[in-house]
Amino acid sequence: MKRFIAALTVTMMFTFGTFGGSGLAQPVEGYKNAGQGYETAFDQRIINRINVDNIYNNIEYLQQTPRVAATEEEYAAVQYIKSEFESYGYEAEVQPFEFFGFTAPHTVELSVNGDHLNPLSFTYTPSGEVTGNLKYVGLGRVVDLEGKNLDGKIALIQRGEISFGDKVLNAANAGAEGVIIFNNTTGNLNGTLGQANDKYVPAVSITQAQGNALVTQLDQGEVVTASLTVLGAESSMRTSHNVIASKKPTNKNKDNGQVVTVTSHHDSVPGSPGANDNASGTAMVLELARVMKNMPTDTELRFITFGAEELGLIGSRYYVNNLPEKELDRIVANFNLDMVGSQDAGDLVMRTVNGQSNLVTDLAQASSLRLNGEPTPFGQGGSSDHVPFGEKGISAALFIHSPLEPWYHTPEDTIDKISKEKLEDVAQIVGIAVYDYASFDNQGPKPKKQKVHNLPADMYHEVSIR
Ligand code: BES
Ligand code: ZN
Repeated sequence: MKRFIAALTVTMMFTFGTFGGSGLAQPVEGYKNAGQGYETAFDQRIINRINVDNIYNNIEYLQQTPRVAATEEEYAAVQYIKSEFESYGYEAEVQPFEFFGFTAPHTVELSVNGDHLNPLSFTYTPSGEVTGNLKYVGLGRVVDLEGKNLDGKIALIQRGEISFGDKVLNAANAGAEGVIIFNNTTGNLNGTLGQANDKYVPAVSITQAQGNALVTQLDQGEVVTASLTVLGAESSMRTSHNVIASKKPTNKNKDNGQVVTVTSHHDSVPGSPGANDNASGTAMVLELARVMKNMPTDTELRFITFGAEELGLIGSRYYVNNLPEKELDRIVANFNLDMVGSQDAGDLVMRTVNGQSNLVTDLAQASSLRLNGEPTPFGQGGSSDHVPFGEKGISAALFIHSPLEPWYHTPEDTIDKISKEKLEDVAQIVGIAVYDYASFDNQGPKPKKQKVHNLPADMYHEVSIR
């Protein structure tokens, strides 16, 4: 009987045409005022077990310091997450991975003929103190530098055509001891050299107006002397960690061979306690793992917190790329929780890599409809750990509130901005959706597998490389 109601609710949703293919799906008319109370007895098992205070308290614990990837503080969080999983009865695996990291300089200065400009440094610039005459070399392409001797000089280069990294290499090859790149549009230029390289020399950016003024001075034959200081920058190999806890199907004879992943990232950006981004998602993964521990399921549930998300989804990419093909094929869903508890953010939305509905959005729309009388809307979006899963053709969605709170990536992302009501709502929607699929005799939506090609490049909010 219980399962009949669940199946009926899903059928009604399809009939009402909730599943918008593009953009955010609209709430269903006729359900709007239906209010709450359509939960099934199966749903109630999850609702009754979730304790929002557990989530809140774990956020409070984790947000005591920033948890920048590969720092001691991130490692302490990894150990804490592992011990929490273990306290619920899981065996937790800590998976290390290496990446090339960069520590931003604490000092970046540039003076030109005694005037202090306010430059920005490029990611992966080496440290150094250089004084020399400025030489303008256009776009800094190989042809622009052919036959030029820049020994002891600082190269002035315009942004455009080739990457910042190539400009710096070309100038360094010609003998330059430092590089200044000026913007080709208004505003500041916040760029990256792409990756570390021993051949780089200290490199900073200035505005278009500042660059043009220097070019004019040089064109008039003036000698322009610049002093460039970059201190504290460091590129090196570093180690971060993922934490993995698995709940195997209850009964070997009823194992459907499939895996549902529930994920978050536990690292934060420098200077931010990351209460919402993303102690909130991490604490919710822990609570859902605790809630599910003794539930009867025919699907493996895998709870994972990733490291180094803030540096470019490094932990989740490592995880997905290091699974054997056969193992990857078993993963039918990824529920990725990132920023799920801010009192100052908007409503819950889901984001998929291609903007299309999938098993995860179907299940969560069904559970949110039963819980709240409205299905959680979805749209296209990247910028979190669901991306590597989605790119492999796995049904994956990010759960996040939109619009974002003003404290995003700031020192103000602290526990006092966390709403227990928001946490409870997301935990219930996701918990019910996961259980709906993983419990025995599941009658909900079945997996869809879609390969995703030609993803728009602007999905990632990354710094410019050219
Ligand atoms: N928690 C955010 C997720 C996010 C998603 C923020 C969508 C805003 C919109 C995540 O930790 C983050 O900050 N991601 C980076 C991109 C990532 C690839 C380094 C971002 O959005 O700048
Ligand atoms: Zn995040």
